[in-house]
Amino acid sequence: MSEIFKSMKFEIVTKRLYLRMWEESDVLWYRELVGERGVDKPTLEAARDKIILFRERAIESGISLLPICRRDEGDVIGYCGLIIGRSTLEEPEIAYELFKRVHGQGYATEAASAVMEAAVATGRRRIWSTVRAWNHPSFRVLEKIGFKRHHSDWDEKGEIVWNVRDLN
Ligand SMILES: CC(C)(COP(=O)(O)OP(=O)(O)OC[C@H]1O[C@@H](n2cnc3c(N)ncnc32)[C@H](O)[C@@H]1OP(=O)(O)O)[C@@H](O)C(=O)NCCC(=O)NCCS
Repeated sequence: MSEIFKSMKFEIVTKRLYLRMWEESDVLWYRELVGERGVDKPTLEAARDKIILFRERAIESGISLLPICRRDEGDVIGYCGLIIGRSTLEEPEIAYELFKRVHGQGYATEAASAVMEAAVATGRRRIWSTVRAWNHPSFRVLEKIGFKRHHSDWDEKGEIVWNVRDLN
C-alpha cells in the first residue's frame, strides 16, 4: 500500500453499472473475454491464478482493475480500473476491456469516468493510459474523459501512444 495515497474505492456505482472486487466465479467470463482478443483462452487454473493475483495486488497497492456489472441485466461486461502497467503506482494507468457484444453503448466511458473520480479521491495528480496507435475506440474513450496525447514509444509490435490527464 502506498504511504502517500489512499486506497481507491473497490465498489463503484454509476447510473447503469457497478464495479466491484474480483470473485473466484469471475474466472468463467474472464476466460471468454481474453479469448475475444484472438489469443488462446487461459486455462481455468491460469485464470484463477490471475484473479487471485488481482485481489492480492489490490490489497498491496490500493489500486485495481474491477469487474463491471450491468445493474439492470446483472451480467458482467468486462473490467475497468487502475493498474501500474507501463507507468508507476504514483501515476498509474487507467485500463478497460469490454465484451464485443456491448461495445458502442457508452459503457467504457461511463465506467472510466467513475474510475477517474475514484483516482482523484486517492489523492493522485496524474493518470496515464498507453494505447496502440490503431486503437481508435480506446482513444475516443480517453478523449471523452479528458485525456490528451502526450508522447509515443515503440516496441516490436509498433507504436504505443502515452495519454495523460492531470487531476486537480
Ligand atoms: C476500447 C473499448 C473498451 C471501448 O468500449 P465501449 O464501451 O465501446 O466505449 P464507448 O461506447 O464508451 O465509447 C467508444 C467511442 O469510440 C467510438 N468509436 C468506435 N469505433 C471507432 C473507430 N473505429 N474510430 C473512431 N471512433 C470509434 C465510438 O463511436 C464511441 O465514441 P462516441 O461516443 O463519440 O460515439 C472497447 O472497444 C474494447 O473493449 N476494446 C478491446 C480492448 C481494448 O482495446 N482496451 C483498451 C486497451 S488500451
